[in-house]
Amino acid sequence: MQQQDKVIIIDFGSQVTQLIARRIREAGVYSEIHPCTSDPAAIRAMNPSALVLSGGPSSVHDEGAPPLPKEYLSWGLPILGICYGMQILAHTLDGVVTRSKDREYGRAEFEAFADCPLFAGVEGKEKLTVWMSHGDHVGQLPTGFACIGRTGSLEHAAMCDPARKIYAVQFHPEVAHTDQGERILSNFLFKIAGLKPGWTMSSFVDSSIKTMSEQVGEGKVVLGLSGGIDSTVAAVLLNRAIGKRLYCIFVDNGLLRMGERQEVIAFLEEHFDLNVKCVDARKEFLDKLKGVEDPEQKRKIIGYTFIEVFDREAKAIEGVGFLGQGTLYPDVIESVSFKGPSAVIKSHHNVGGLPEKMNLKLVEPLRELFKDEVRKVAYELGMPEHIIWRHPFPGPGLAIRVIGEITEERLEILRQADKIVQHELLATDWYRKVWQGFAVLLPLKTVGVMGDDRTYEHVIALRIVDSIDAMTADWSRLPSEVLARMSSRIINEVKGVNRVVFDISSKPPSTIEWE
Ligand code: XMP
Repeated sequence: MQQQDKVIIIDFGSQVTQLIARRIREAGVYSEIHPCTSDPAAIRAMNPSALVLSGGPSSVHDEGAPPLPKEYLSWGLPILGICYGMQILAHTLDGVVTRSKDREYGRAEFEAFADCPLFAGVEGKEKLTVWMSHGDHVGQLPTGFACIGRTGSLEHAAMCDPARKIYAVQFHPEVAHTDQGERILSNFLFKIAGLKPGWTMSSFVDSSIKTMSEQVGEGKVVLGLSGGIDSTVAAVLLNRAIGKRLYCIFVDNGLLRMGERQEVIAFLEEHFDLNVKCVDARKEFLDKLKGVEDPEQKRKIIGYTFIEVFDREAKAIEGVGFLGQGTLYPDVIESVSFKGPSAVIKSHHNVGGLPEKMNLKLVEPLRELFKDEVRKVAYELGMPEHIIWRHPFPGPGLAIRVIGEITEERLEILRQADKIVQHELLATDWYRKVWQGFAVLLPLKTVGVMGDDRTYEHVIALRIVDSIDAMTADWSRLPSEVLARMSSRIINEVKGVNRVVFDISSKPPSTIEWE
């Protein structure tokens, strides 16, 4: 396959660096983020077609502020500096970065100078709304640079040295608040750097299959399949690469939703010729969880029991040398992120610790992809909508939605209530509009009346949220008729429930799961 263009983003620690990578990929060019502490020789070896220097929280004048290695300027590559990226360019060359009295944060009106290719085709460029977040600014341009835009408070809000193809902007073109930011980034990629769009999901599928079959050779891979989109897409890609030498293990931990095990297995058998072993470990999990109420304790028990079961099953397959995982790019970035401490693996990652213990090499077909790209790959692989748009489901499953003690009876009540929530969301098309919707069983009983009788029964909470990435979330403004139908169906159809409440908290300060 022809070598495709690759943009390397040097991360100086901005909160929105990931967005730069996403926007560039959306424009059809592959891009990767690497920390500013990377060895320039290693970056060079990646054969980038252009560099982007991200924003970051430092001032170039701070002690320990991340420097810009001069090598980056010596390879003749097109460079785009954003925010701190612009300042560090000016500072490293012979410009002057001036400290501002106040931080400028939020929308600003930017006037782009008409003849610059960075702003070609941008409408209303004499009065463009852009997003700023900076303390310092470039007071004096480096030699060879021209000013290409200003705002009311910044004389040099953008600069360029066209001969060297170095461009820089003080604002953030990658965030949605900047008007026509995509256009500005595309101009850099195509008009200035002369790149070609070649990053498509079908090109990804081809190259990923090739890379994995080279990596695994004649070896065998074991993979934990949850039925969620990430592990399913990882499995299908691996299956295309190595066929039946992929061994998928689906662990039924007794904490799945109603009919989930049957649905997942039937789906995989029907659509893909995967080698799947379904392990019934319900008793093992539920025995260990008996009497446990503390959510962290539940998580730990489920985590290590999963490892025990998976390890046992994997060892039963002779000659397995690799562990397949559905790790996504945001996890990869997080673990190498310039901010450092975020490298800690979240306890969310249910199989964290598995490879070390099992002494297997990792195969991670999705480690270059963002979630929306995984969905596109799933389309490419012919997966049906209900898998592609499946809501996230936590590894510890219903254990963290049955608040308090987990018993078969309480799990069953939750399963029935949850089934109704899923059904009503799907029936009304709200399933696709919300990020996630589910039921939670509370650890209390309340009084009700049924006919002439007083009842004293369980309470179900509905948790239905909108979100983009689960980092923040807000409760979904569902029409009251939909909520009313969920409530009356749950109370009428689920024995043991006489009250339904709707959770109207946002994250933060609440979380999505109740635990
Ligand atoms: P919280 O409750 O932290 O949830 O706001 C954020 C998102 O993460 C999901 N979640 C998990 N996913 N394993 C997972 O794979 C887990 O242990 C886990 N815990 C929470 C949650 O459903 C939401 O989408």
